[in-house]
Amino acid sequence: MEAPHTSKEADAQNPEQTIVVSGIQPSGRLHLGNYFGAIRQHIDLHQQHEAYYFIVNYHALTSVQDADLLREHTMDVALDYLALGFDPEEAHLFIQSDVPAVTELAWIFYNLVSVGRLERGVAYKDKIEQGLTPNAGLLNYPVLQAADILIYGGTLVPVGADQKQHIEITRDLAQRFNQTFCSEDDPLFPVPEAHILDDVAVIPGVDGRKMSKSYGNTIGIFDEGKTLKKKVMSIVTDSTPLDEPKDPEACNVFALIKHFADDAKQAEIAEQYRAGGYGYGHAKKELLGLIDDYFAEARARRKELEQRPDYVMDVLRDGGRQAREQAYAFMERVRAATGLVTTY
Ligand code: TYM
Repeated sequence: MEAPHTSKEADAQNPEQTIVVSGIQPSGRLHLGNYFGAIRQHIDLHQQHEAYYFIVNYHALTSVQDADLLREHTMDVALDYLALGFDPEEAHLFIQSDVPAVTELAWIFYNLVSVGRLERGVAYKDKIEQGLTPNAGLLNYPVLQAADILIYGGTLVPVGADQKQHIEITRDLAQRFNQTFCSEDDPLFPVPEAHILDDVAVIPGVDGRKMSKSYGNTIGIFDEGKTLKKKVMSIVTDSTPLDEPKDPEACNVFALIKHFADDAKQAEIAEQYRAGGYGYGHAKKELLGLIDDYFAEARARRKELEQRPDYVMDVLRDGGRQAREQAYAFMERVRAATGLVTTY
């Protein structure tokens, strides 16, 4: 008999229950920024609380417009989560579009936010600054994200620092909805908090900028062998000669080593940097070994799961069904509050 999840049961009786909610785009292979900034917290938190994690394929359509690729990336993200320790007995993992009601909630929210606010969105402004023409999906992206979070009554959203603005918009929309459509003592939406851990809020890429698919500076969580080596060797360093002392805190390689090595190992490597006679090539080799060790188990598990596509599909189907039930029950209350008449 499986042991009861006591902390979650206690949670369920608490009106201020913590509901963890987060999403990840299937827009390419997941990287170390996704892992340390978000996925690791997702895995930690889903053991303690009720949690909803979704693969945001509607969001990915803003950039991925190739059906085969979107399908492939979607299944890849599911495999990655399961390989990295997501346990479907503990929480819900599903595909965003299996709960189409999120787009309905997003539509309701569009009427509660100004176009100006969305035009100040970081991702939207970035595109314009790069001289690209953003599509309307990108402008409205944060509103769909708010719907994703609020439709499950999310209270805690583990993300990297780049999502701060989106969570602020979500909080504003929750408050705006409650003020507009609910009585003060009976708000429909909790106002969620972002869960951003300082030391992993922005993981740097091989060029020292934030690791991001759009900068092409990523190291994949499941990269290995030659591919991994090539990426690690391409990490940008300065030209301090091998013999001279170096400042670990100013080095892109050390910035990544920190996430893989325990305190003692970090101190030992930092000491070698400062002593001189330790080159960036040495540090890169060290990092390579650390990454290989860190993800060895997950890599093996992923290879096993690749042979079980039906199991992965079952997990997603079950997660989607549970999430849909929750979301549809919630939407009845949203429709009633807004005066959207339902005849069925
Ligand atoms: P996405 O897919 O771009 O990123 C997924 C998560 O990875 C984090 N992240 C990073 N953290 C630290 N350092 C980095 N270099 C780094 N790169 C990425 C992101 O902060 C994110 O937490 N908008 C979201 C997807 C989304 C969502 C949601 C998130 C849709 N609906 C609802 C939370 C709740 C995004 O673009 O993620």
